[in-house]
Amino acid sequence: MKATKICEGVYWVGAIDWDLRNFHGYETEKGSTYNAYLVLDEKITLIDTVKAGFEKEMLTRIASVIDPAKIDLIISNHAEPDHSGGIPAVKKLAPGAAVYCAAGAGVKDLTAYYGDLGYIGVKAGDTLSLGKRTLTFLPTPMVHWPDNMVSFMTPENILFSNDAFGQHYATFERMDTESDLSEALVQARKYYANIVQPYGMQTAKALAACAQLPIQTVCPSHGIAWTKHLPEILALYHKWAAGEQEDFAAIVYDTMWHSTEQMAHAIADGFSACGIRPRLYNLHYCFNSDIISDAMTAKYIAVGSPTLNNNMMPSVASFLTYFRGLTGNKKKSIAFGSYGWGGQSPDQVQEQLAGCKCEPLLPAVRLQYKPSQEQLAKITEDVIAALKGE
Ligand code: FEO
Repeated sequence: MKATKICEGVYWVGAIDWDLRNFHGYETEKGSTYNAYLVLDEKITLIDTVKAGFEKEMLTRIASVIDPAKIDLIISNHAEPDHSGGIPAVKKLAPGAAVYCAAGAGVKDLTAYYGDLGYIGVKAGDTLSLGKRTLTFLPTPMVHWPDNMVSFMTPENILFSNDAFGQHYATFERMDTESDLSEALVQARKYYANIVQPYGMQTAKALAACAQLPIQTVCPSHGIAWTKHLPEILALYHKWAAGEQEDFAAIVYDTMWHSTEQMAHAIADGFSACGIRPRLYNLHYCFNSDIISDAMTAKYIAVGSPTLNNNMMPSVASFLTYFRGLTGNKKKSIAFGSYGWGGQSPDQVQEQLAGCKCEPLLPAVRLQYKPSQEQLAKITEDVIAALKGE
């Protein structure tokens, strides 16, 4: 396990988590990396660390270029344990290393996790000389924790962006020029949708602040770094932060005996007839985090549940809870579902969607037992009429 050179004097010394499949509820089918960066200057500087359990990998990579005991400075851009978990191990080997983090929230959060290690708080625009290089700190609160900050290093013009622009994507390649770009972009979108999306306004502010900097490379704390394709990822972040929507309908449902499923298809036919691309997600097979990634830019969302014991199905409740916490833009919605008796679920779904910044396109749609062809055709017609009436 060796360090990977990013440029002269700057190395990636992080860890690759090939096995990660769930990151606090986010399905990570491609694993992840915890990126730490080592800068060899008059002050030996480590920017972020790794998740606890991966310290040995990080220290082995550091040791491939320099004795870890020689580290003078640790920059903690974010206290979440996937980036700060390695700080105690580094401090054990290099007890004199000073730890810099965001004043206020950064000091508070690191103290809560690791006790008082003598943290030094920095504010917007504060600079730190490493020797030939200088770091400038820029707080990016709520992208996506209160303590987040980014560090900009001259003269290489590298932005160490922590979670921003990251991807849960385990790969040996470190730069966008050598990686599978399409996979990196898919994972960057999924990362934004599942981690950053609720903080679009704060992200837009951070992007505006970063626009003042002559950034040449962005080194995030997960996945690959952006150089050649920096304009593409920046353009996507601007679009996502602005909550831009597309003519796309995400139709999410669970089903017991295929009746709600048939309703989902009838709704999809209505969207398709109006030139709006529908996509169906059966919660029996699809993960919430994958649906959220697709649905982030959808203009429409339809959610269906059969009534089970007077309630919506638990899978649908789980999706709606996840969606409510993350959705960043107002969508038009349809609640639907089949029932045998009772039939409470469509109204329950409608109520939940109202709490998710959604505005009903139709009154809640419910059908008893097995839908007839006529009833399904009526659903399609109603969706078409509602879309034409917008
Ligand atoms: Fe990758 Fe917010 O931690």
